[in-house]
Amino acid sequence: MTQQFEGTAAVILAAGKGTRMKSRLSKVLHPVLGEPMLFHALRAIAQTGIPPERTVVVVGYQGGQVRQAVAERGKYLFAEQTEQLGTGHALMMAAPLLRQLPSDQTQQVMLMYGDNALIRSDTLLNLLNSHHQKSPLITLASANLIDPTGYGRIIRDQGGNFQHIIEQLDLSPAQKLISEINAGVYVYQAGWLWEALPKIKKSPKGEYYLTDLAGLSEETCPGSVQAKLIEAEEMLGINDLVQLAEVSQILRQRILREWMLAGVTISDPASTFISAESQLEPDVVIEANTHLRGQCRVGAGSVIGPNTILTNARIGQDCRVLTSAIENSTLEDRVEIGPFSHIRPGSHLENGVHLGNFAEVSRSRLGQGTKQGHFSFLGDATVGPGVNVGAGTITANYDGQTKNKTFIGARVFLGCDTILRAPLSVGEEARTGAGSVVTRNVEPGVTVVGMPARPIRRRAVTKSQEPASEETKQ
Ligand code: UD1
Ligand code: CA
Repeated sequence: MTQQFEGTAAVILAAGKGTRMKSRLSKVLHPVLGEPMLFHALRAIAQTGIPPERTVVVVGYQGGQVRQAVAERGKYLFAEQTEQLGTGHALMMAAPLLRQLPSDQTQQVMLMYGDNALIRSDTLLNLLNSHHQKSPLITLASANLIDPTGYGRIIRDQGGNFQHIIEQLDLSPAQKLISEINAGVYVYQAGWLWEALPKIKKSPKGEYYLTDLAGLSEETCPGSVQAKLIEAEEMLGINDLVQLAEVSQILRQRILREWMLAGVTISDPASTFISAESQLEPDVVIEANTHLRGQCRVGAGSVIGPNTILTNARIGQDCRVLTSAIENSTLEDRVEIGPFSHIRPGSHLENGVHLGNFAEVSRSRLGQGTKQGHFSFLGDATVGPGVNVGAGTITANYDGQTKNKTFIGARVFLGCDTILRAPLSVGEEARTGAGSVVTRNVEPGVTVVGMPARPIRRRAVTKSQEPASEETKQ
């Protein structure tokens, strides 16, 4: 599909302040479903097959911040528009960069605005396809809106032929009734674009309107603009915080619907948020009041929620996560968590791990079948399989300066209220008595008690390498 768009470069305009947002933050950085608004448009472009290396982002207001956010997503090109003199001017700023790209990669230029979060990549592909087939000078998207206020209108002659675009401010009362609007997505034939761009004239308000290009094209070459209707929903721009909420809502519903049709049960769509970049397998159940943020993966048969927040979490199959938070961590299969537990970044829970109430795990790996049932903290710990972490167990991993590591061997039994002062290692099958404060390494098979903990018993360590019990409480 993508090869015919190898000749297409993209431009996205993101330099405006977004005055109508009444916010200090640049409009395009306002989050829509947990991601900067601009990222949704960038994703749609990338999904057409046009790579970041051929996509110019025009930045201006808070340009540094916008650049930084975008650069984390890929090797995008940036053009600076220091003064926001309009959308046409913004494209003028991008032109030199685009013209430096190999000409066989820039036969067409696709442009869209950074405040459109709802456009689908399929729609962009349709526009590109149609442009390719019909070879006009400009292909642009239009839509029919019940309330077209605020958008540029498509002006057609009596025969229905495209003539030009008039912005809201310049409309006559009769033109205000026109419901066909300019959606703000364009494909230009590049050779023509470079000639026409300098011809855009300043408006009485001192702006260069990108939309004037369509009029210029028609004037010099009638029939050279093709306006293609797209779904009204997809062109909604975000100009103020009301529209931001509306667009977020539409996008949220769209994503939920797609997952439901793909076999995911969503018990309460009204209170469920799933980011655009999360991936779920069939037979996942998402319960009420649950948020999946960033890039989450959830495997088949897992039940997430209610009341759960996953952020960049990788969850295997048949897991249960109840009223808990998981960030930047991995759960293998059949892991159970919650209620009220917190898995902090850099953690990895192997198959069959069980975490109960008020368990906190940070930068730690828990071996197969390990259980941490009640209010305890494991930080910077490597825990073997089949370990029992007693209620109230704490790794004292921070000495005020450095975070120190704790190693806990296979099948260790940590009694209630054990404090493990890191750096420390507890050998396999060792045991600690309730209330032990362990300050020195514990040999395999040894039982320690007290404060500071001292050995009272040594047992032979089972050599059997049976996997730890994977049974978990139902
Ligand atoms: C624009 C179109 C309008 C269309 C509507 C669709 C123009 C003149 N008008 O109007 O016909 O119906 O979008 O949503 O193009 N930007 C810059 N530099 C500037 C000005 C704007 O980079 O100097 C960027 C903004 O950051 C924004 C985008 O361009 O992402 C669109 O600007 P905006 O002011 O929102 O245009 P609209 O008035 O919505
Ligand atoms: Ca807009």
